[in-house]
Amino acid sequence: MYLVPVAGSRDFLVTSGSTMAAAEIARQMTEGARNLSLSGHVGFDGMPDQLVNKSVCQGFCFNILCVGETGLGKSTLMDTLFNTRFEGDPSPHNQPGVHIKSSSYELQESSVRLKLSIVNSVGFGDQINKEESYKSLVEFIDAQFEAYLQEELKIKRTLHNYHDSRIHACLYFIAPTGHSLKSLDLVTMKKLDSKVNIIPIIAKADSISKNELQKFKIKIMSELVSNGVQIYQFPTDDETVAEINGTMNAHLPFAVVGSTEEIKIGNKMMKARQYPWGTVQVENENHCDFVKLREMLIRVNMEDLREQTHTRHYELYRRCKLEEMGFKDTDPDNKPFSLQETYEAKRNEFLGELQKKEEEMRQMFVMRVKEKESELKEAEKELHDKFDRLKKLHQDEKKKLEDKKKSLDDEINAFKQRKTAAELLQSQAQQSGSQQTLKREKERKNFF
Ligand code: GTP
Ligand code: MG
Repeated sequence: MYLVPVAGSRDFLVTSGSTMAAAEIARQMTEGARNLSLSGHVGFDGMPDQLVNKSVCQGFCFNILCVGETGLGKSTLMDTLFNTRFEGDPSPHNQPGVHIKSSSYELQESSVRLKLSIVNSVGFGDQINKEESYKSLVEFIDAQFEAYLQEELKIKRTLHNYHDSRIHACLYFIAPTGHSLKSLDLVTMKKLDSKVNIIPIIAKADSISKNELQKFKIKIMSELVSNGVQIYQFPTDDETVAEINGTMNAHLPFAVVGSTEEIKIGNKMMKARQYPWGTVQVENENHCDFVKLREMLIRVNMEDLREQTHTRHYELYRRCKLEEMGFKDTDPDNKPFSLQETYEAKRNEFLGELQKKEEEMRQMFVMRVKEKESELKEAEKELHDKFDRLKKLHQDEKKKLEDKKKSLDDEINAFKQRKTAAELLQSQAQQSGSQQTLKREKERKNFF
């Protein structure tokens, strides 16, 4: 939150946003403003204290994404960094893809409360085909931006107590091969660099010699540059930290060793890793860059990482998303375009498209109806033709049957006539036969 004097008046405008944006507003508004000297103490010099008190009261949140292949010491480093043991079950490493596991913790140091989320890339690099390994990371980061954007766009929003889950820092664990970056590392960092502050670190740096480590660091940096991968640079614009940050930028990528084991060295207990040939002290700057990482990540630049996440990465996501939705700041003539105008223009465009679609659908419907009509007419005609054909066939069959019946009737009549004639003949023959028998009987009687 910033106090900005309003030009030509005694009022102050309370504004919030990034330092740069506020400075620009202040510059524009103070042009032509009068400089007055106060004749006594007023008290607005206590404003920074008010802000500090308010922030302490609200607490802070910080979200770290750990990306790196299985067993590179991600969990151990987190435990070492925050001097605690974040309990958690061991992650499975036989899954078909990379999945994201996020755990949140409430930490307190003095009176400052920190809500810390540690997001782990479980199974990263475990697959044979690693082409899609970066996808779930990108999707997760975008989902957190989207959730924040949705909260911002709400009519009733509660951003002051919103649990911000956007990733503020991505610790990218590089395997201590001493050789070069793997293509999986390059591809993943390239995909993430516009979405998150990447801090590359060489894991398990105790397994590589000092000379090799220096060469490895140079090789990694040159590969990142030649592949256009943007990593997070500790800011040098604030003069209170410019020197230390400038020096630390030259030490990137930090080569770290993690351990939660405490070993007595001299009369002090120290975090270290013990080997048959000696001891690696985690917090000894001659042994590794763990202290540098802790200083840069937590003590000096935590707020800058949060601010960069909001002003650079989230802003980019928001801009792309709103542009995708059709929102613009200026019209085609480069004149400012208000949200209302954009909304109206978008609405008109949408209604126009809707009308066009409606008209297209109507025409399609009419065409379809016509097509169906002609199809039905065709079918009707075919049916009529078929009916006519069948009718004719039926008539022909009927006629044939009638002819056949007639000829059969004729045959029956002829047969009947023949039968009657035959019966007549037969009866005549019988009659003449019986007369002859009588005659012969008479003749025989006469003879005797
Ligand atoms: P996953 O979550 O299973 O992917 O593993 P991780 O990356 O969280 O690794 P974890 O912290 O579980 O450590 C794996 C092994 O590496 C353990 O045996 C650790 O003791 C060991 N280890 C952790 N940090 C270092 C280190 O800096 N140097 C060496 N040499 N070993 C380490
Ligand atoms: Mg782990």
